[in-house]
Formats: sequence, C-alpha cells, structure tokens
Amino acid sequence: MSLNFTQVHRNSRILSVGAYRPKNSVHNNEIAPRIDSSDEWIQQRTGIESRNFASSDESLIDMAEAAARIAISRAGLAPEDIDAVIFATITYPYQAPSAATELLTRLGNTHAAAFDLSAACAGFCYGVALAGDLVSAQTANNVLVIGGEKLSDFTDPNDRATAFIFADGAGAVVIGASEGIGIGPTIWGANAETRDAIMMEPSWLEYKKADKSENIKWPDISQQGQTVFRWAVYEMAPVGLKAIEAAGLTIDTLAAFIPHQANDRIIDSMVKSMKLPDSVAIARDIRTSGNTSAASIPLAMDALLMQRPDLHGKSALLLGFGAGLVYAGQVVELPPLPA
Ligand code: UT7
Repeated sequence: MSLNFTQVHRNSRILSVGAYRPKNSVHNNEIAPRIDSSDEWIQQRTGIESRNFASSDESLIDMAEAAARIAISRAGLAPEDIDAVIFATITYPYQAPSAATELLTRLGNTHAAAFDLSAACAGFCYGVALAGDLVSAQTANNVLVIGGEKLSDFTDPNDRATAFIFADGAGAVVIGASEGIGIGPTIWGANAETRDAIMMEPSWLEYKKADKSENIKWPDISQQGQTVFRWAVYEMAPVGLKAIEAAGLTIDTLAAFIPHQANDRIIDSMVKSMKLPDSVAIARDIRTSGNTSAASIPLAMDALLMQRPDLHGKSALLLGFGAGLVYAGQVVELPPLPA
C-alpha cells in the first residue's frame, strides 16, 4: 500500500527559445593552414564553412545571459519568474559556484534553484528531460535550460582532430506548464566502453601538480573522430526512432529533426537510416556554427524557426550525443518566435 498524496502531474512544453552567437565568425581558411588542412577538406568531411569564437574578454556567462534574456522575454516572463535553472556545459572553468548560480546573479534572480549538468553534447537534451519532469511534478513552474559552451578555451588550435570542429555559443529555452503534452518521453543512456573517444585531459589536478619540465598541456578536449563517427552513425538512428515512437508519432507525422550539430555527414546518415521523408525539416546549423556541444541543439532550433516560422507548434525530434559516450533524444512541440 502506498500513501495517497495529492495528484500533482501536469503537462509541460518549451515556451520559448533564445540564442547567442559570438560576433567573431572565423572561416575555414583562417584555421586550415595551422593544421595542414584545407577549406575543401573541412567542408567535404564535416559541412562546416565557418564558426563563431567568443573574444578573450567574453565569458560563457556573458553568452548564456544574452541567450537567457531573449528566451525569458520571448516567453513573456521576467527573470524573477524563473524558479529553476539547469545549465548544461562542459566548459565552465569553475567547479564552484556553478555556472547556473552565476547566471542567476546576473539575471538579478535571488530565489531560483540552480545547478550545472555535465552530459557534453547530449547536455541540452538531458536538461530538457529534467526540466519537463520538474514542471510536470510541480517542483517548478518555469525552468530555464541553458546549453552553453566556450569550447575555444578547451581546444588546442593546433590539434588536427578538433581545431576545425569546435566553436562557441549559447542557447536557452524556458520550459513551463501547458495544456497538451509538449515534451515526449526521453530515450537516453550511456556507453562507458567508449569513454576514451572524447576526453578532456589531463585533469586539472595533474596539470596543477606537473613539473614544468614534464611539458604537461592544458586540459584540452581530444577526440577519436572515427570511433565517434561510427558509433553515432550506427547507434543514434534507433534512439531517434524509439523517441518518435514513444511520443506516439511516426516518421510521416514528424515535422522536424534537430540533431546535435557534430558533422553534416552524420546528420545525412541518421536521416537515411531513420528513413525520414522529405517533409521533415532538417536543422543544419553546423555550416556556419560548427560544433558547439551543449549549445548546438538550441542554436539550431532558433535558426530553424527563423527560417521556418511555420514550424511553430509542430513536432521536432531532438537528438544529442557526445563525450561519455552519452546520448538523449525526445520529441518536443516547437515554441513560437516573435513575429
Ligand atoms: O560532438 C561530439 C561528437 N563528435 C562527433 O560526432 C565527431 C565525429 N567524427 C567526425 O566528425 C569525423 O571523424 C572527423 C570530421 C573528426 C574526421 O573525419 P574523418 O572522415 O573521420 O577523417 P579520418 O580521421 O578518417 O581521416 C581521413 C583522412 C586521413 O588521411 P589518409 O590516411 O586517408 O591519407 C587523415 O590523415 O583525412 C586526413 N585528415 C585530415 N586532412 C585534412 C585527418 N584530419 C584532417 C584535417 N585536415 N583536419
């Protein structure tokens, strides 16, 4: 027998989205000579033409604040209406206090619950899952989910495997109560066998303790590109299909697909494996934004809605995957953008 508490369940949806891209757009031609590459190779292998880098005096919190203010205002709310903040990131350079509490201070909000979430490029989708459930369980009313990264602080500009991929930016959504079900069940998981495929190394502690003569490098992100590529191509389409089914939809009734922007060829392969029809709009923000990890899905959502405002209120499959390796996918109802 269980205690019979008051029924609290209610539905939730994404009320609004906001995005911030740093002003400095860097073309492949500026990066290629340093890593013995070319604009042609980078475009063919990834689809990336250019990406944005934050300036040295522009912090992760600066970018997140800009995206958050847009999302909060588009939701018709004020910063004090937010009662929980989930900040998905792997590039905040402090363990304490969290990026989420730092952002709250900037927003002048003195009461919301706030914490960071570490799930790399799947972080935003993990955040959407948690925020939807917090609202559904009436633990919170309006949850701000941020996906933000300043990857340029953790990328070796001379690393041939990463320098042309990673970029900076921040995206935000506000998740609140809704009449209908606006967030489908999340299909998520981790595959620890592939823990070495994407890593930030050495640890900050090893870096701190190292003797200068050991020539220990700053903990930049390293990546075994082919391992991640193969895993994403074979393992992620079934996750996407399960999320569509769990939401009670089919590939024919889905309106949009907004995957993590890691590589245009991975996106092509997932679209093909899932057999998505031409009627499904595909987000391809990677071309001018690169891979912004936790920020990539909300940035791509914002860009897609700018191009296709008719998608407001329609369904979109979100699918994030990255270091861990971890993944999460869910179908959501797309929010409106202001006219
Ligand atoms: O966000 C987290 C999730 N991350 C991802 O999903 C990343 C997944 N991986 C990838 O996107 C791709 O593996 C990369 C874009 C990173 C690399 O593309 P690839 O097609 O897997 O390249 P590769 O490592 O198989 O190398 C192919 C060739 C090699 O030359 P040979 O042996 O065929 O002569 C490499 O030496 O390309 C060469 N190469 C390069 N050439 C120019 C490797 N890196 C570069 C480079 N520029 N930067």
